[in-house]
Amino acid sequence: MFKHTFKAALLAGIAIPMASASPDFAFTANDASTDGDIVVFVGPDGVLSPQAQRLDSRVDGRLSAALQSEAFDGAFGNSLALRAMAPFDTVTVLGTGEDPLTPRLLADLGGHAASANDGDAIALVADAIAPNVEGAGAYLAKGFALGAYTFTKYKSFDEDNPAPQPYTVTVAGTDTDTRSLFESDLAHLVEGVTLARDLGTEPGNTLWPQKFVDHVSAAFAGVDEVEITVLDADQIRERGMGALMGVGQGSIHDPRMLIVEYRGGTRGDAPVALVGKGITFDTGGISIKPNNGMWYMKSDLSGAAAVAGTVLAAAKRGEDINVVGLMPLAENMPSQDAIRPGDVLTTMSGKTIEIMSTDAEGRLLLADAVYYAQQEFEPEMLLNIATLTGSAARAMGDDYAAVITRDLPLSLEMMEIGKAAGEDVWPLPLHPSHYEQIESLIADIKNTGGQPGASIGAAVVGTFVDEAMPWVHLDIAGVDWRDAPTPTAPIGHAGWGVRFMDQLLREKSE
Ligand code: BES
Ligand code: MN
Ligand code: ZN
Repeated sequence: MFKHTFKAALLAGIAIPMASASPDFAFTANDASTDGDIVVFVGPDGVLSPQAQRLDSRVDGRLSAALQSEAFDGAFGNSLALRAMAPFDTVTVLGTGEDPLTPRLLADLGGHAASANDGDAIALVADAIAPNVEGAGAYLAKGFALGAYTFTKYKSFDEDNPAPQPYTVTVAGTDTDTRSLFESDLAHLVEGVTLARDLGTEPGNTLWPQKFVDHVSAAFAGVDEVEITVLDADQIRERGMGALMGVGQGSIHDPRMLIVEYRGGTRGDAPVALVGKGITFDTGGISIKPNNGMWYMKSDLSGAAAVAGTVLAAAKRGEDINVVGLMPLAENMPSQDAIRPGDVLTTMSGKTIEIMSTDAEGRLLLADAVYYAQQEFEPEMLLNIATLTGSAARAMGDDYAAVITRDLPLSLEMMEIGKAAGEDVWPLPLHPSHYEQIESLIADIKNTGGQPGASIGAAVVGTFVDEAMPWVHLDIAGVDWRDAPTPTAPIGHAGWGVRFMDQLLREKSE
């Protein structure tokens, strides 16, 4: 599956930042073969599946004996690694917990299996797992693939320290429906998350607006029903997007607007518009950021990266929906040419924005992008996603992204989507006072105001979204980069939002 993208990129003559030796997945109804590592799933009842029982007899009962002597409790995600299990290498027992397994929990289990693995061939004994979930083994594979992500592009390898090699994960005890759920659907979702992670990990000196466009275009090469449009600086200026232009004007790398349309739904049906902030590096501009942690602003394009990954996954599996992804891209640099605090920019809508801080740049390019999205595509709903505010990061931590809407029911719907997707959101408010706080003395609005910062940011963007438009604002500043791993997201860029927006598109297409 990853090979596809890679090949497309090679054909397009563009090096894409694909970085990892990703596993291949094989699905079989048979028992796992006896060489290599094996994962067995056991609940608190300690019952072994039929395949696990046969495995136990091939190791002369040493598996069941170990479970008893170690008093393995089967709690969710608990693991027990058993060696001296010839003819197997390592047999890892993974607890499945009390609760009935859901697709989300199955993916987490798959992620646990990946973290128990060291990049060797491995088989998951999945014959009895979650009989209540159709294609359960495919969700295990999805979670494994997500959890096994690594970015090794800038590492040196030699004989003593060899590069990770491709390997196969066999999901044993599964049927052909499970295989096709993975291969024709979930593998593409993994590919979308991988694209987003690669983009979010790539440093600022190798990824600027046009490079982002190249990487994403390469990933889409040969995908059906997709149309890619790129606006360069002249076209951005011609369309009057003075806010996007302003943010990018301090950099030697011009801004771009990348638009990916996927028409998998009924012709003429209004699309879902996904708009992602794509700041390829955020120094803060003239309102320069402090040194501490600034390196991390290489991933200030996480929103745009997630939009690219989401549309890629939907298009590759042929989701029955029309969707348009808009990615305004710019680098926020201080320079002779950069915008200053106090400058006034004119947006595409005609509304003017006074710049109080050049570090509040994301809302500026979103102002033009959400307006453009509505003018050009008349979407049925508009979602924007951005690493917008430190305020959201402090309020939410890394368990929830902030969701802001104009009406609570829509936020509650988003919470349900997040739960199903495995990427949770929690609502923050949007009050008329937040709009009052961005009133400007000399322009229509200003780009910063009082508190709370996350809501103020949303109010700036909301100024450019039609009142009647179902509108979802996601602030992912706290969740896009992980300092501690989860089962399905290793330390580093999480690709947050691909799974969330993917789930939204699935529900919209029903
Ligand atoms: N990209 C940052 C937000 C951010 C902060 C993302 C921390 C991830 C982690 C954004 O452009 C920014 O600088 N926001 C300012 C806004 C302020 C100047 C009103 C912030 O949150 O400090
Ligand atoms: Mn900033
Ligand atoms: Zn930023």
